[in-house]
Amino acid sequence: MTKRATFTTKLGVIAATAGSSVGLGNIWRFPYETGQNGGAAFLLLYFICVLVLGLPVMVAEFTIGRSARANASRAFLKLTPKTHWYVVGVLGIFAAVFIMGFYSVIAGWTLDYVYQSLTFGLADKSPEQFQTAFTQFTADAVRPIFWTFLFLSINYVILVKGVQNGIEKASNILMPVLFILLVIFGVRSLFMPGAAEGLSFMFKPDFSKVDSGIILKAMGQAFFSLSLGMGTLITYASYFSDRTSLVKTAGTVATLDTLVAIMAGIVIFPAVFSFGISPSQGPQLIFITLPNVFQQMPGAYFWSLLFFVLVSVAALTSTISLCEVAISYLHEEFGMSRRRATLILVLVCFFMSTLCSLSFGPLRQVTIGSLTIFDFCDFLSSNILLPLGGLLIAIYVGWVLDKKFVRNQISDGGRINVWYFDLLMISLRFIAPVAISLIFLSGLGLF
Ligand code: TRP
Repeated sequence: MTKRATFTTKLGVIAATAGSSVGLGNIWRFPYETGQNGGAAFLLLYFICVLVLGLPVMVAEFTIGRSARANASRAFLKLTPKTHWYVVGVLGIFAAVFIMGFYSVIAGWTLDYVYQSLTFGLADKSPEQFQTAFTQFTADAVRPIFWTFLFLSINYVILVKGVQNGIEKASNILMPVLFILLVIFGVRSLFMPGAAEGLSFMFKPDFSKVDSGIILKAMGQAFFSLSLGMGTLITYASYFSDRTSLVKTAGTVATLDTLVAIMAGIVIFPAVFSFGISPSQGPQLIFITLPNVFQQMPGAYFWSLLFFVLVSVAALTSTISLCEVAISYLHEEFGMSRRRATLILVLVCFFMSTLCSLSFGPLRQVTIGSLTIFDFCDFLSSNILLPLGGLLIAIYVGWVLDKKFVRNQISDGGRINVWYFDLLMISLRFIAPVAISLIFLSGLGLF
């Protein structure tokens, strides 16, 4: 068997896991999903999904990962030999590739914005000019793909070396800096002329907007943002020490993740209204609003550069975790060297990303069920594969694993008082499976 490393400190566990969760999902996807789906009502549904579905599924993934200490597919085989549950892990690998496909494109855009910040490309423009420049950039057949390639190459370099030392240590420092920056930008944004309108869009719910499609999206966003449903957290939990409290870790990570998303919203929505930009822009939202905000601040050059560097880093700590799922699988199951596994995976991701990137330009007309390739990858992974994975994981820990075994894992062999255990089991056995199935079927229009 391969020797498996463990994270050594509590901070290491939190930093790595939060590093996986906090990423473009919070800063890029959350604001635009909220913007497209009616604002505050979406936010509220999102909170409920995190609390009622996300947290229990996260604890379930931790339980599987730490007790089995293996890659996301092997873990199921170890805990329940001679069953087909390992397929959940294999499904996760497909999800990883689809997510990487569109995620790396956005990460590439952030790198381009780093470059533009450096070379004064983001200075002295009107909101319309930012919009036009952005549309031209993303429709280009070469420039965004170049940045995506660069981003994937950085992933390769780090992943080949192994994750723990570089990325984990870097996240310990960079994540808090990102947090502080968001606070600074948030305060600046709150003093802009349209701030009140932006805040009421974000915090005053209009329930007439709620339908099953929106609930499906809120759930998809919760799974996506918390990195659930595809084995990322199973893989990371296989590196937890025996003394890590699974529930406390899940609580901390979910809280941090939600805080970062809310702060991103507070930065973006006041600015959106103040510059007369439509909140329902979709994926381009932050790339058009934020340069406008920075422009209004003394030291714009510095802030904008720092911000896009940190967003790129946040993206990187997430993609590393996405890739790690597939790499540990290829490496351990097919006896490939880590280098070869990483190379193959990164090349596959690059192929997917190229298609996703071109779907903003030359391949705009190519659609799958009315979605562009980019939107299709996003929809398929976030709204189908992740909830499906989450559903199966909840059923697995709730019904298939022995209840005493689960209790023993979560209570750390009886050391931790787990007064919430029954609540957790009720969620995993009943609430999560029923809610996910219903939301899922009705969101797809099948119910
Ligand atoms: N959660 C990350 C983000 O918000 C993205 C991510 C990393 C992810 N690993 C994942 C999403 C696993 C779904 C599943 O940016």
